[in-house]
Amino acid sequence: MGIEIVPLGESLGAEIRGVDLRKRPDKAVTSEIRAAWLEHLVLLFRGALLTDRNLIDFTLGFGDLEFPPSKLLNLAEGPRNGPKVPPEINVISNVKENGEPIGQLGASEAAWHTDSAFVEVPPAASILHALEVPPSGGNTSFLNMIAAYETLPDDLRRRIEGKRLKHDQTYTSAGDRRAGYDIVEDVREAPGPWHPAVRTHPETGRKALYLGRRMNGYVEDLSLEENEELLDAIWAHVLQPKFVWEHKWAVGDVLMWDNRCVMHRREAFDDSRRRVMHRTQLAGDRPV
Ligand code: OGA
Ligand code: MN
Repeated sequence: MGIEIVPLGESLGAEIRGVDLRKRPDKAVTSEIRAAWLEHLVLLFRGALLTDRNLIDFTLGFGDLEFPPSKLLNLAEGPRNGPKVPPEINVISNVKENGEPIGQLGASEAAWHTDSAFVEVPPAASILHALEVPPSGGNTSFLNMIAAYETLPDDLRRRIEGKRLKHDQTYTSAGDRRAGYDIVEDVREAPGPWHPAVRTHPETGRKALYLGRRMNGYVEDLSLEENEELLDAIWAHVLQPKFVWEHKWAVGDVLMWDNRCVMHRREAFDDSRRRVMHRTQLAGDRPV
């Protein structure tokens, strides 16, 4: 009895049926899930509410746990998990308790991004579990950066292939400046690592555009004008609906995405409604 794989989007995304994540899947099932994940890039599991322990155990089936971004950057910033939530979990929520946010990203849009591309060794995967969702809004979309790379017009490909891109650490994906970071006046000086603009997937060998996020992106050696022009042209190509799959959340959903070759975006939602998600991350490799 194998798992059932139901493709969802035209370009990426599949639902996995026949697995109960309240029990850690055995080795055979885990390797079937891994193969489906490498093929479909984003997996959806529906159903039961998981405990943090379930989510951590499921994540550990695929490799090492990575810590939340504020820990990767050594920042004290951001809500600290209360006694009920273990430190491996990143809470993504707009909810406030006693006036303090219990999690990250609030209720506004989170623009297209790769998780933690602004560190030297970004996570391979993020696994996001919905505990409470608003009646509408807050959908999350995913974009296939392998397909975006493979269809890149030749002139753009020639201009970006082999170049490195600077990934600014200053802002969160919700557009908030991190505590202790100065406003970026010149993208060439922004703090953050260099990564190849086209990376090769360490498991499948497939090439993907690796842009991180649009804001403050910088392609090495370009003038500021050339940089904006090239990045705008590449992003215009990337942001085509045919590369995107959008998910409307239900309580209990788990989404696992390949952070090496997928970008994602979260739309805004009504801040008077509660949205609570728990996330783990899988450690990755240095992009090459
Ligand atoms: C994230 C993220 C989107 C969402 O957890 O990295 O971008 O739907 N979340 O909350
Ligand atoms: Mn994210």
